[in-house]
Amino acid sequence: MFSTKRLRFRQLKLSDVPELMKHWNDPELRQYVDQGLFPMTEEQETEWIKKTHSDMMSGKAYFFGFEYNKKFIGSVGLMNVNNVARYATMGITIYNKAYWGKGLGTEAVRFILEYAFNILNLKTVHLEVWSDNERAYKAYERAGFKKQGRKRNYKFLKGKYVDAILYDITREEWNKKGEKVIMNY
Ligand SMILES: CC(C)(COP(=O)(O)OP(=O)(O)OC[C@H]1O[C@@H](n2cnc3c(N)ncnc32)[C@H](O)[C@@H]1OP(=O)(O)O)[C@@H](O)C(=O)NCCC(=O)NCCS
Repeated sequence: MFSTKRLRFRQLKLSDVPELMKHWNDPELRQYVDQGLFPMTEEQETEWIKKTHSDMMSGKAYFFGFEYNKKFIGSVGLMNVNNVARYATMGITIYNKAYWGKGLGTEAVRFILEYAFNILNLKTVHLEVWSDNERAYKAYERAGFKKQGRKRNYKFLKGKYVDAILYDITREEWNKKGEKVIMNY
């Protein structure tokens, strides 16, 4: 269990599925996520959570559920971990829209960067964000990610094309910021 100023991070639990399913098929949320073209079932999410556990044990991916005021609100993780070049891809979702725009996402991104660089000893963290997801890329930039490129017309959302913007951050860039993020280690 890791704590930041306002959030607690632990493995995802099967008991998180009902809260996750309350929000996960909301079209406003799904437009921003990778597999957002169709709704997901409770069974698929149960399998996904089980997979996060086996991936964590084998070092392929590291996903955390996070709680605010003891309530499960989101997940953040590192996927496609490359143990030779030492990079990973980051993903994050706050499921309940009531918790968007309060700085909690930025805090969770900072946590996963500290975890990636100073616990897993990775060198680079990458991500892709759709160009219309201003809330997300502002949070990433505030945490220290730098824009590196763009895949044009990468997604077709609500009848129009949007670009994917590519971001990354290196361990040196993160450590230079000297932020104390994880309170209990
Ligand atoms: C992306 C996400 C994790 C960001 O977390 P968050 O807690 O909402 O973000 P924060 O409050 O930390 O920061 C949001 C930034 O966007 C700004 N913002 C808030 N509401 C906004 C809005 N409606 N439109 C644009 N910007 C907005 C905030 O002012 C802040 O920017 P600032 O640092 O310049 O002040 C969260 O919104 C979410 O889960 N969204 C749905 C799923 C998703 O998009 N996942 C990421 C896919 S790449």
